[in-house]
Amino acid sequence: MKNALLLALSLASFTVLGQSQPAKPVPPATPQYRPAYHFTPAAHWMNDPNGMVYYKGTYHLFFQHYPEAMVWGPMHWGHATSQDLVNWKEQPIALFPDKLGMIFSGSAVLDEKNTSGFGKNGQVPLVAIFTHHNPDEEKKGTQKHQYQSLAYSLDEGKTWTKYEGNPVLPNPGIQDFRDPKVSWNTAANKWVMTLATKDRITFYSSPNLKEWTKLSEFGEKLGAHGGVWECPDLFPLTLNGKTYWVLLVSINPGGPNGGSATQYFVGQFDGKTFTPQTATQKWIDWGKDDYAGVTWGNTGARKIFLGWMSNWEYANQVPTSPWRSAMTAPRDLALKQVGSEIYLASTPSPEVAKLAQPAQTLKNLTVKPELALSDKIKLTTPQFQLKLNTKQLQDVAVVLSNAGGEELVIGYDKQANQYYIDRSKAGLSGFSSTFAGRHSGPRLATSPAADLTLLFDVTSVELFADGGLTTMTEIFFPKQPFTQLTLRSTTGITLEALSYSKLAGTVK
Ligand code: FRU
Repeated sequence: MKNALLLALSLASFTVLGQSQPAKPVPPATPQYRPAYHFTPAAHWMNDPNGMVYYKGTYHLFFQHYPEAMVWGPMHWGHATSQDLVNWKEQPIALFPDKLGMIFSGSAVLDEKNTSGFGKNGQVPLVAIFTHHNPDEEKKGTQKHQYQSLAYSLDEGKTWTKYEGNPVLPNPGIQDFRDPKVSWNTAANKWVMTLATKDRITFYSSPNLKEWTKLSEFGEKLGAHGGVWECPDLFPLTLNGKTYWVLLVSINPGGPNGGSATQYFVGQFDGKTFTPQTATQKWIDWGKDDYAGVTWGNTGARKIFLGWMSNWEYANQVPTSPWRSAMTAPRDLALKQVGSEIYLASTPSPEVAKLAQPAQTLKNLTVKPELALSDKIKLTTPQFQLKLNTKQLQDVAVVLSNAGGEELVIGYDKQANQYYIDRSKAGLSGFSSTFAGRHSGPRLATSPAADLTLLFDVTSVELFADGGLTTMTEIFFPKQPFTQLTLRSTTGITLEALSYSKLAGTVK
């Protein structure tokens, strides 16, 4: 079966931007790199999460997908469903390219009041709002090749019908005009679309998802502008009884450690205009591998975030086969105040914590300069969680290593006041000159006490420090599994507790 699949893949030819190209040879299968509780497609290419919506007990995850090769190509919306955010079942492809173009990123809403009229006989439609990207129009150079369109489902997301009136939001002549995130806004009593429009966000509103009126623009001169703005999201969160609005904006390139990353702004949205609270540059995740992430729709006050665990710098080259890319673990978002700043804190969703087997906890560990833990903690599975607590944060590094001399180092650098992930010696990296390296993000908490949660799943580590104030996600490809655990500290540190739990996931 596997061989047949690989042969089919290697014989296929594929189309990129309208041109037929010979298929790239498929590298040997790498089942050892398949994560368990992170979603991956069974085969072929995946990028951004799309259309995430919760409906009748099911989390729907659609995703940018090219089902004919392991590299980016004409985009479809793949589909997966889950009851618990960690065990995913891939479903048939939801949206295929059509005469209006490829199906780029977007969102999906539950149209409870049937404002769109797509529901028949009392049915409640799910409506997808996505970007059509038209390569033939692109060749004409009018810059009008991206526009917003609709599709709807009347069978809980199983099958989708494209709206015959597409596109619903034509392009006024803006080269990058894409990735609509739509939600119902109670202040406006309308749908509000948050759209990435080249170097800024443009907000639109609609009573019925079909007719859109421009409201305002935000960000031309604010935030990071090292690359194009993409995949925005806008949602409210409360802190101490007060509501704030969070605007996520992915940017590529121009991330804090190179390539793709997601910045955010905290402020107010009055149904028309977004006003940021401060101008401090903020990133939802400082690692290199969390991009184009947005939140699930229809989850009430709870905001659950999921990102694409890769970076456009090397996403097309990572050494996995016959699929490319995984999503991050789901994260619950909350606001936290530090001094006069309000930050977004990300923590692994409780559904991930439920995977944890009973923890093995070591108390009062003194590390200087090194403490080998391999005789106490056996890294027998590649899915596990480590939690560290200290009352007095000093230099500290968690080192995973193997008999081949490879090591992955995750730590805190006291002098720089930064958390970091160093994958320079963590395995395969020759596929891209920008992959290997030590990447860092600032410690935002000011307390001497610190807590760190690290999630591992074969080829990824997700670091949540200080209740999620600093988050970093990175991927790595060791030639053999990491089996040894060591702590290092140049300054010396005492950990009140270090706990290790296996995470039981479903391996495909
Ligand atoms: C972000 C992105 C989106 C676009 C999609 C195309 O990674 O560039 O802006 O809709 O990918 O696959």
